[in-house]
Amino acid sequence: MAYSFQITSPDAYKLAYEKSVMDPQGFWADIAQNFFWRKKWDKVLEWNFKEPRIEWFRGGKLNITENCLDRHLGTIGNKPAFIWEPNDDETDARILSYRNLHFKVMQFANVLKNNGVRKGDRVIIYMGMVPELAIAVLACARIGAIHSVVFGGFSAQSIADRLHDSQAAYIITQDGSLRGNKTVPLKDIIDDALVQCPFVRKCIVLTQARIPVSMIKGRDVWWEDEIKKVESQGNPDCPAEEMDAEDPLFILYTSGSTGKPKGVVHTVGGYMVYTAYSFVNVFQYRPEDIHFCTADIGWITGHSYIIYGPLLAGATSLIFAGIPTYPDAGRLWDVVAKHKVSILYTAPTAIRSLMGYGEAPFEGKDLSSLRVLGTVGEPINEEAWHWYKKHAGADKLPVVDTWWQTETGGVLISNLAGITPEKPGYATLPLPGVQPVLMDENGKELEGNDVSGNLCIKFPWPGMLRTTYGDHERCRTTYFSTYDNLYFTGDGAYRDENGMYRITGRVDDVLNVSGHRIGTAEVENAINMHHGVVESAVVGYPHEVKGQGIYAYIVLENPDDTHLSEQDIMKTVTRLIGAIARPDKLQFVPDLPKTRSGKIMRRILRKIAEGETANLGDTTTLLNPEVVEQIITGRL
Ligand code: PRX
Repeated sequence: MAYSFQITSPDAYKLAYEKSVMDPQGFWADIAQNFFWRKKWDKVLEWNFKEPRIEWFRGGKLNITENCLDRHLGTIGNKPAFIWEPNDDETDARILSYRNLHFKVMQFANVLKNNGVRKGDRVIIYMGMVPELAIAVLACARIGAIHSVVFGGFSAQSIADRLHDSQAAYIITQDGSLRGNKTVPLKDIIDDALVQCPFVRKCIVLTQARIPVSMIKGRDVWWEDEIKKVESQGNPDCPAEEMDAEDPLFILYTSGSTGKPKGVVHTVGGYMVYTAYSFVNVFQYRPEDIHFCTADIGWITGHSYIIYGPLLAGATSLIFAGIPTYPDAGRLWDVVAKHKVSILYTAPTAIRSLMGYGEAPFEGKDLSSLRVLGTVGEPINEEAWHWYKKHAGADKLPVVDTWWQTETGGVLISNLAGITPEKPGYATLPLPGVQPVLMDENGKELEGNDVSGNLCIKFPWPGMLRTTYGDHERCRTTYFSTYDNLYFTGDGAYRDENGMYRITGRVDDVLNVSGHRIGTAEVENAINMHHGVVESAVVGYPHEVKGQGIYAYIVLENPDDTHLSEQDIMKTVTRLIGAIARPDKLQFVPDLPKTRSGKIMRRILRKIAEGETANLGDTTTLLNPEVVEQIITGRL
């Protein structure tokens, strides 16, 4: 399906950009009219960043699944919508055509209805990378239920926190999920979470790993049994619920500077328009493409560029259940060659970890189907960028470095593959419709080029978050109160002499570990829960493969406590958040450096963790300057 909004030359980019600034409403209306609306919008945009109140396509009525599925049936019904490549290379791949997917989504939407799920209900989805995860997501959207996918690496406690925050009464999960040589017992983990959540009414369980699970009568039902019931009811249809453009589509929890993850809310109309627009333009989508995004559907990248963006464009999207290094480090290239992947979209961490295996994993692999390479999730170092371009791209394919966030819904700053210039380490230029600005610490905009500052966006775009679930004030204070009338990203950036952006990393207390966003306060809270810990401070430090590693400084109640081992504390973090938040380094310290008002001096701790011990600045104003030397001595 060709879209009129595809930008196909550098001049067209400039024109589109100018139009998007001069006449944003006209610009977005032109794009939005490419979709199927049951009723057209009355107003393109209503906004103020003070409250904030952001409404796109007000009065418009639609269902996103009609745009992802029904709309394509007459033209590309038999085209693969999803290709599923399993964890191991012996199980057969599965292909779901648009027609097939449409059928399965309606079928499962009827399962949800049979189990009492209604429009506006929240549904937590905790699954591995199987096509049924995408089916569950789309089935929720079909009936207007709000999905909240929780990444399969999160712990029972994290799930319980999300269940409480969203007051979700429904869960979709599976017995277990196979990843590499591990089986993650998803249903067991859900059972642990549900001990604290008596309000959960139904838990639908897919059979996948075939491991034993306990099923609670009345609450837990098997996916397969429920499908059979729907089949016996005889009517395969499930009409799409009519949604307002501004009705919530999903909640996705993400970490911030406080201890509690927040539920970022995206709405139906704007998210649809923005994910399709950004997908088509950034990757320069062509109908024959096989698009392979290696992210997990539990993160925003999977939502926007495995499910929604590609399906809206009528693309074929590959869902990979495994990991790049199983059964060996050539697996990613095997998948590319096997399915003739044309767009590969992955994370710098994956690239850096594969770099460690050298060139051997490429041997004998035909990568000639590749056309576009992409990265996302963290700053990419130049070395990794060049390696990726050389080995995966034969030094000639475009590499798009796409900067965006859970909150932005889709890519905001990136080159458009082969159309606008690329520069190693740079996300480069904003997409038309996106107006970035750099601000200094005093709230002054940094104009001109060759400047560094805090990255903000000064005008709304359709894919932006609307609120944080159940706590609008938190949305305001986190994103809209640092600078007047601007959305603050939490990232720092440099704008070079040509106006290209390089993202330098978070300027708040958020870490980016292997592309996973983790709040230092969350990790500290978890460590502090451990018996015998008085307090802790967590900072990031440069890590060769993960981008950032987690460094934890810990003060014990009794410094000679020999019972307290590193392992115990790691276990607590794993239990409370998940293995992704386990510190890479744990240092027991006598005290933390504090100001006279009792504030922990993280700046000093960060420098020590980074190994910059000679350059700590003035420490004489500290309450306890002597502790700094002791910490340096014990540095890991
Ligand atoms: O710091 C930026 C980094 O990832 C953060 C957003 O994380 P999350 O919401 O989990 O979404 C990740 C996938 C979109 C950003 O604030 N980040 C994301 N992409 C890039 C990046 N940093 C540098 N370059 C990128 N291309």
